[in-house]
Amino acid sequence: MVPRIARVRRRQRDLKDVVTLTLEMEDGGDLEFTPGQFNMLTVFGVGEVPISISGDPAKPGGGLVHTIRDVGAVSGALARLGPGDAVGVRGPFGVGWPVTEAKGSDVVVLTGGLGLAPLRPAIYSLLANRRQYGKIALLYGARGPGEILFRSELEQWRRLLDIQLYVTVDHADTDWFGSVGVVTTLVPRADFDPEHTLAMVCGPEIMMRFGVSALRDAGVNDQSIYLSMERSMKCAIGLCGHCQLGPVFVCKDGPVFRNDRLAPLTAAKEL
Ligand SMILES: Cc1cc2nc3c(=O)[nH]c(=O)nc-3n(C[C@H](O)[C@H](O)[C@H](O)COP(=O)(O)OP(=O)(O)OC[C@H]3O[C@@H](n4cnc5c(N)ncnc54)[C@H](O)[C@@H]3O)c2cc1C
Ligand code: FES
Repeated sequence: MVPRIARVRRRQRDLKDVVTLTLEMEDGGDLEFTPGQFNMLTVFGVGEVPISISGDPAKPGGGLVHTIRDVGAVSGALARLGPGDAVGVRGPFGVGWPVTEAKGSDVVVLTGGLGLAPLRPAIYSLLANRRQYGKIALLYGARGPGEILFRSELEQWRRLLDIQLYVTVDHADTDWFGSVGVVTTLVPRADFDPEHTLAMVCGPEIMMRFGVSALRDAGVNDQSIYLSMERSMKCAIGLCGHCQLGPVFVCKDGPVFRNDRLAPLTAAKEL
């Protein structure tokens, strides 16, 4: 439960209300993680919140990259930190994306808004081990062209000839000539074999609900659809019950769940 101390090495503004912090452990240690795991980050004197790891698991120091949207007291304080400032780090915690189980299958990554950040480590892994997967489709939706996260990286990935990358926005502006519409409209455009596909879905809950429907309509079964859940957290180690969803703890049994296990829990009222 005791946080290690890290310092901000780099702060990058991604969007008006989103920054990416690269941290460095004060003791010089590294942090190994699997894609989809999260850390508890503390701003001393303000509080502690769960934030997914958005860096490259294969890169030294890759585990200390976090992308944060300023929505309140702690996330706002994190987003305002600058180089040299101290951050408490506990983690990594949780069960992440099934990048190993997906080997040999087609993979659909369906994501909206900031949901791309927790999926970015999985995308790095898929691309680093490209030969071990079938077709890969990355489907991303943002509210508007100015809210496309990691835009230059998406452009780099789009240049790869062996992945399908589609981006859509809910509302276009005069400079946008791409797709307009919710991200689920991209599912029928992607080429994958639904019977041999594993899907990873992350974004606002309403987007994930419609995303699951679109994947099911395309023929992907619930045992092959994985989603990352967000719940309020305190301990992150399965003790306090803050993140409980029926019989499971999102902090230690998730945040990534298979949809056939998750669907009965989200259909029922929370305890
Ligand atoms: C496993 C996990 C991984 C997460 N990964 C990330 C991440 O990578 N990047 C990131 O920015 N956030 C992430 N979050 C969400 C983040 O933890 C919350 O935004 C944060 O706890 C809010 O705390 P706060 O003190 O800043 O805001 P509070 O003061 O607690 O809340 C302020 C206001 O924001 C609303 N709010 C709280 N959480 C959210 C939210 N998630 N989205 C929209 N509105 C919200 C509240 O309802 C309230 O109205 C993750 C959460 C979980 C459980
Ligand atoms: S946050 Fe305490 S049990 Fe999950």
